[in-house]
Amino acid sequence: MADVSVREAREDDCEEITRLMQEFAKHEGNLHLVKTNIHTVKRDGFGEQKVFDCFVAEETLTTGKPRLVGYLLYMWSFTTMSGRFLFVEDLFVEENFRRKGVGSLLWAKAMKLALSWGCEYMQWMAKRRNTMGINFYKKFDAVETNTDSVMTFTLDNDAMKTACSKIVSE
Ligand SMILES: CC(C)(COP(=O)(O)OP(=O)(O)OC[C@H]1O[C@@H](n2cnc3c(N)ncnc32)[C@H](O)[C@@H]1OP(=O)(O)O)[C@@H](O)C(=O)NCCC(=O)NCCS
Repeated sequence: MADVSVREAREDDCEEITRLMQEFAKHEGNLHLVKTNIHTVKRDGFGEQKVFDCFVAEETLTTGKPRLVGYLLYMWSFTTMSGRFLFVEDLFVEENFRRKGVGSLLWAKAMKLALSWGCEYMQWMAKRRNTMGINFYKKFDAVETNTDSVMTFTLDNDAMKTACSKIVSE
């Protein structure tokens, strides 16, 4: 196990969290699609109308200064069937720190939190080609819950504007 500890993110971590988000996007080949930046991370993780929470993994040994090497970003959600649940949006550990138990520490923090909030389950999405991630989740006995009968929809910003302009409302 690397000399890494896991804690709740603080506002002064925003720059590092943004850096790790970009590394994650680069790893996934999506860097060109990233629209978030330090300002959106500050607003959405620490502002008055925050929408996410985050755990970070911090190491001090290599440089002598604390440095983030991983993060797990989550939000709370709710279904009529099961009530509240924890949705994991991002889980990422820097390449040099992988296979040292850091991802498991972040995951354990999220599991303990979900249990303490009385959640029936946690949920997240993974690309089918992401064998590294899938192997990780299987270690915790996670079950794939895709069904042929359920579809995921996305309404983008332009479509929302167009649709709104067609609907007469107050
Ligand atoms: C997935 C990820 C977060 C795991 O973090 P990690 O710190 O390496 O995880 P751990 O060291 O705690 O590994 C726990 C277990 O996961 C599995 N695992 C992790 N990486 C693996 C790999 N490359 N190949 C096979 N199994 C792997 C193993 O079962 C491992 O246990 P073991 O080392 O005792 O065999 C990390 O690999 C990562 O950041 N990957 C890139 C981003 C990503 O894919 N995120 C998930 C998106 S859905």
